[in-house]
Amino acid sequence: MLVKVLGAGAGGGFPQWNCNTRLSRLAWDGDERVIPRTQSSIAVSADGKSWVIVNASPDIRQQIRATPELQPDRTGGSRNSPIAAIVLTNGDIDHVAGLLSLRERQPFSVYATARVHSVLRENSVFRILAPDVVSRLSLPLNEETGIAGTGVIVEAFPVHGKIALYLEDPSKEGFGTETGDTIGLKITAAGSGSLFYIPGCAKIDEELLSRVHGAAALLFDGTLFTDNEVIDLGVLDKTSLRMGHVPLTGEGSSLHAFDRAGIARKAFIHINTTNPILERGSEAERTVKAAGWEISHDGMSFSV
Ligand code: MLT
Ligand code: MN
Repeated sequence: MLVKVLGAGAGGGFPQWNCNTRLSRLAWDGDERVIPRTQSSIAVSADGKSWVIVNASPDIRQQIRATPELQPDRTGGSRNSPIAAIVLTNGDIDHVAGLLSLRERQPFSVYATARVHSVLRENSVFRILAPDVVSRLSLPLNEETGIAGTGVIVEAFPVHGKIALYLEDPSKEGFGTETGDTIGLKITAAGSGSLFYIPGCAKIDEELLSRVHGAAALLFDGTLFTDNEVIDLGVLDKTSLRMGHVPLTGEGSSLHAFDRAGIARKAFIHINTTNPILERGSEAERTVKAAGWEISHDGMSFSV
């Protein structure tokens, strides 16, 4: 199975449009120590012909431009696309807004949990994806779902997380978060190893560790390096955990959590515009690499 990282950045991308902290400044100025990243998305294919995109980022048009495999077949009909399906891991803007860019009456399927489908239904703007063209299919939890016409199989499972920021209800426990608001995916195809894609995760527990044990690859939430990162930078008064993301370092963190999980390849993805791992040659980058992780970037590809 082929895997392509379309966007390795978190919501807002790198540099985020209004960000003027040190790393974003380097990115705005084209400094070679950093590479810009678009917003969180991957593409997978069992046959190299039909593709499944996991999460439709607001940058999807730019991502398709950068990825020849996702472009129309030049010898095909006047409208065609190798993109067969979109699978959603939550209702975050960085994961659903790209659906609006796929609105030109091209058939494809959208797979999501019941909770995320209800978010799309309640936002009338998504009606632009006409039901006679775009099918909305359910993604049950803890079951394998074959993605129609692609040979790709996904198993969605709940992870600790948080309801999308724009849906938070401060009067409710966990801001109203329910099971199915954030999922991880095990992605396989016939004869392939398994890829785990978990761009948002608020807690790494034993259940998650046993699920990912022995995986061929793990793409995991790399939003923030420390829990207080954006507080310390004075850009937002929220910890990483409050935002629904385990930090890479500190209490309950991800950097060493998977050390004994026997995973062949581990890379951080959904990396925030403030995360010091974005700077080549930085101590944070060295720390992460020494711990056996890669730092994903747009265009990174591999097979499992
Ligand atoms: C997140 O991953 O926490 C969200 O994408 C944040 C946001 O929607 O801005
Ligand atoms: Mn996000």
